Amino acid sequence: MKTSSTKLVATGILLHLVLAMSYGAPLFSEHEQQVEALLGRMTLDEKIGQMVQADSGALKDKADVQKYFLGSVLSGGNSDPAAGNTARDWLEFSTSFQSYALKTRLKIPLLYGIDAVHGHNNIDGATIFPHHIALGATHDARLVEQAEHVTAQEVAGTGIRWAFAPCVAVVQDERWGRTYEGYSDNTALVTKLGVAAVKGLQGDTLSPAPDSVLACAKHYIGDGGTTNGVDQGNTLCDEATLRRIYLPPYAAAVRAGVGSIMVSYSSWNGVKMHANKFLLTDVLKNELGFRGFLVSDWAAIDQLSPDYKRDIEQSINAGLDMIMIPNGPGQPNNYVDFITQLKKLVAEGKVPMARIDDAVRRILRIKFQMGLFESTATDPALTAAIGAPEHRSIARQCVRESLVLLQNKKRALPLAKTIKHLAVVGTADDLGAQCGGWTINWQGAHGNVTHGGTTLLAAIRQTVSPGTKITFSADGSDLPKADAVIVVVSEAPYAEMKGDREDLDLSGEDLDLIAKAHATGAPVITIILSGRPMILRSALADSDAIVAGWLPGTEGLGLTDVLFGDYPFTGKLPRVWPASNTHLRSGDTSEKPLFPFGYGLTR
Ligand code: BGC
Ligand code: BGC
Repeated sequence: MKTSSTKLVATGILLHLVLAMSYGAPLFSEHEQQVEALLGRMTLDEKIGQMVQADSGALKDKADVQKYFLGSVLSGGNSDPAAGNTARDWLEFSTSFQSYALKTRLKIPLLYGIDAVHGHNNIDGATIFPHHIALGATHDARLVEQAEHVTAQEVAGTGIRWAFAPCVAVVQDERWGRTYEGYSDNTALVTKLGVAAVKGLQGDTLSPAPDSVLACAKHYIGDGGTTNGVDQGNTLCDEATLRRIYLPPYAAAVRAGVGSIMVSYSSWNGVKMHANKFLLTDVLKNELGFRGFLVSDWAAIDQLSPDYKRDIEQSINAGLDMIMIPNGPGQPNNYVDFITQLKKLVAEGKVPMARIDDAVRRILRIKFQMGLFESTATDPALTAAIGAPEHRSIARQCVRESLVLLQNKKRALPLAKTIKHLAVVGTADDLGAQCGGWTINWQGAHGNVTHGGTTLLAAIRQTVSPGTKITFSADGSDLPKADAVIVVVSEAPYAEMKGDREDLDLSGEDLDLIAKAHATGAPVITIILSGRPMILRSALADSDAIVAGWLPGTEGLGLTDVLFGDYPFTGKLPRVWPASNTHLRSGDTSEKPLFPFGYGLTR
């Protein structure tokens, strides 16, 4: 008796293993029976509800979650709780939506999603990590995994179990305003760090652990390859090139068990990705064996045609499983319209019932795997630890390892902590500039955007000896002759849609500030806070040392750790650093880059 049941279990496990291996994906199958049983009990309304992800800002009446059986809610970049922006406000907010899902007939729990793209960046007081491009400069997969695990803990601490991360764009044109959301222009590096991020967020497998957070590789596919780096633009290349440059991070993420993938706004050879059945269904689901679910981007299906019903038909039939809908009743293309139209399409036979079932199966499978049916409770210890010193110390290490020393004439760096007089000019005291876009606000902002962070200036003050005199002047109007000058220049914060540029020049004011520092005769250390390589021009000759600081986030002490020599420079360029604006596309060999991929001095 005992032997035979053991045998049976063993055979079952073997079968699953063979299945899993043939899919190249980890075991999802243990929940198949639960999924089928539940699916068998669901009405069409309940099924279609699961396929809806409504923005919290669109849900004027939270009871709509119950009324329409919604499967998911997100908070977009500006969709904060009305009550406030602390971790506790967010926990209450997400839980309030969940409570309506748990009141439905089948009590199918809600999946709440948010853009935690460099830490849990919408929440006041959370640990803000450097943006992906900086993590690319660390080349350190273990560290990226640790960082994303911290992020998972902070996300879960607000009752949220889904992060729209990592962005695994292989950015080929730095004019794109989302360049910093990608790790690198190098496929292998993006692939390595993308896998690390998925593991950091989900754990070794997505699980009921309270801090296992569903990852979302995005934006599938070719988002970073558009002509001239135009946001939501068109990526022109043949299929072999698409597969070689942009597909490997997804193939690897699927193998690592990523549970969700977000589809790109962009087009491939003129066809919008949200309508591309070949790439969504044939390649991703059938060929790569992706068993999680596909979510659309924010109102992205609306761009397919002027006819919303047609958009729904096209995108669902192409393979989209969940649709991200920013609009509520009273607005065009809202979640009630979506439900009404999709029901019609099913009745008319234009969207097969099998496609609906497949989509819902995929969503339910993830919810079972995450243990949401057993519990949606939040561990209060996770809430309490948001922004904790142990979390910040990991972010600080990320900053430290991301700094790339581009130039160091006369060994201007490291600085001695006992330096007598240090002048600091520029945006050294601007936490918002340090953090960049997707920080508290969608587009980010200058100034004291969040609590608990340390600006570079504050970090310098904490690091130097008690005898050191520091003169700070943001605009450089007070610039005495000192023993060294630190000049901080930065890109103003931006995110998608607003961050595209035609040139990457440092501003005239920035170049003047560096020239002015140079004219004092003291060694000049220029620190560039930017989402991408900048065209340096006169800054090159006017600076002794130049450091690419990227968008380091809240932990300014990571910069001083290295600037004052407690740690060496180890960061290496994650993408080519062009010499001029005619060379902003990676792989363009018509001009020698100023610094190649992988460049970085150690001293
Ligand atoms: C962006 C995504 C993001 C989503 C939700 C979209 O506009 O492209 O990266 O996850 O909004 O905020
Ligand atoms: C972004 C959202 C943001 C919204 C603001 C969208 O494109 O993806 O995250 O909140 O725009 O209007």
